[in-house]
Amino acid sequence: MMVVTLVLLLATLTGAPVEGQWRRRFPPLDPCRLPYPPRRCSDPSPYLPRPPPTPVDNYDGYSMFVFGDSFADTGNLPYNATSLLAWSLMRPWHIPYGSSYGKDDGSVSSTPQATGRFSNYKVQTDFVATILGLKMAPPAHQVQGDASCDNTGMTFAMGGSGVYSVPAGVPTLSAQVDTFAQLVSSGAIPAARLAKSVALVAVSGTDYDRVGIAHPKAFGDVTAFIRNVTAGISDSVDRLLKLGVKKVLVNNLPPIGCAPSQTKAAKYGACDDAGNIGADTHNKILKQLLGDQDNVLVVDLHAAFSAIVQGSTGQFKHRLTPCCVADSFCGATDANGDLYEVCTTPSLGLPGPEEYFYWDDMNPTQAGWAAVMEQVEGSIKQFVGVN
Ligand SMILES: *[C@@H]1O[C@H](CO)[C@@H](O)[C@H](O)[C@H]1NC(C)=O
Ligand SMILES: *[C@@H]1O[C@H](CO)[C@@H](O)[C@H](O)[C@H]1NC(C)=O
Repeated sequence: MMVVTLVLLLATLTGAPVEGQWRRRFPPLDPCRLPYPPRRCSDPSPYLPRPPPTPVDNYDGYSMFVFGDSFADTGNLPYNATSLLAWSLMRPWHIPYGSSYGKDDGSVSSTPQATGRFSNYKVQTDFVATILGLKMAPPAHQVQGDASCDNTGMTFAMGGSGVYSVPAGVPTLSAQVDTFAQLVSSGAIPAARLAKSVALVAVSGTDYDRVGIAHPKAFGDVTAFIRNVTAGISDSVDRLLKLGVKKVLVNNLPPIGCAPSQTKAAKYGACDDAGNIGADTHNKILKQLLGDQDNVLVVDLHAAFSAIVQGSTGQFKHRLTPCCVADSFCGATDANGDLYEVCTTPSLGLPGPEEYFYWDDMNPTQAGWAAVMEQVEGSIKQFVGVN
């Protein structure tokens, strides 16, 4: 039997920030952050969730609909929640998230801006949008609302989501598809928008982490649970196709035993084999369920992440240590200051985030995503039929 300690997307859903033994303090970078609760004070920008746009009748580009978790969220989590429980979920709206805002090489920005993304700048959705020829990622549902849909589509993905429900009320994958279905049936997403549509489904392992922690005994039959999770993904993909989406990109699982949440115990020195075996099983079953459909592409994040963390692409000085380190979660603070360490502090002589593959305990940096998406771009273009 496998002893599985799978991935950690939101380890801190259940608790307030805790103080770390190595705790160090840095000058607060975000004037909006303290005192708790934080306020949002970012100006609107292309990488914030966009307000409802003016319809463009003659738009004939792709529409993109995005589902899943933190790999794909472009601003669906609340930025003004008031409970401590929600604090870890609000972190993508606060520095140090967005530290490289506006810097395509992923280096430190002089105008940092947290945009609701789990990265120092862009996430996977932004790169897929570029591949499809969009100027920017489609607006987040949180801001756009239910009345209308931008021509470029909509992002429903929310950090912490998965196939199974989450304690903090983050909508599951199928609940996100329910919302999409309602917008299709109300006409807010017109049939014309679906005629040239591509969906991205990013389910990156939250289910395994949460069940492992909350119900260790229920985890006895790991393969049965993996079958349930993959079946849930497959069901949502089928529903999207039935609702009229033309092509669906579905991420497989990266080697989640190499995520910093899993390598932390070994001082970020080595991957956790059990987690990686679990990911392999997940990917094998996912491929069996989805691999033969002409209108579905399983995006091989596993191969791309593996090549990078194993060093075979020759990229990144730091491939297992995250740029942002914390006992609880990146971005955690208390009344006295920061409870995390971040590699973006030049005065400490640390290399910048562009030298790190991982940004936080789970999610790649902007430079990390650029390197991953470079590897899968060709297959996505061929599948969708763009040059
Ligand atoms: C948070 O923002 C939403 C709209 O985005 C608003 O409806 C709600 O009242 C706000 N809550 C607080 C506590 O400010
Ligand atoms: C998988 O799903 C089935 C049907 O919903 C359920 O009975 C079973 O307990 C689930 N197994 C695991 C390990 O979660």
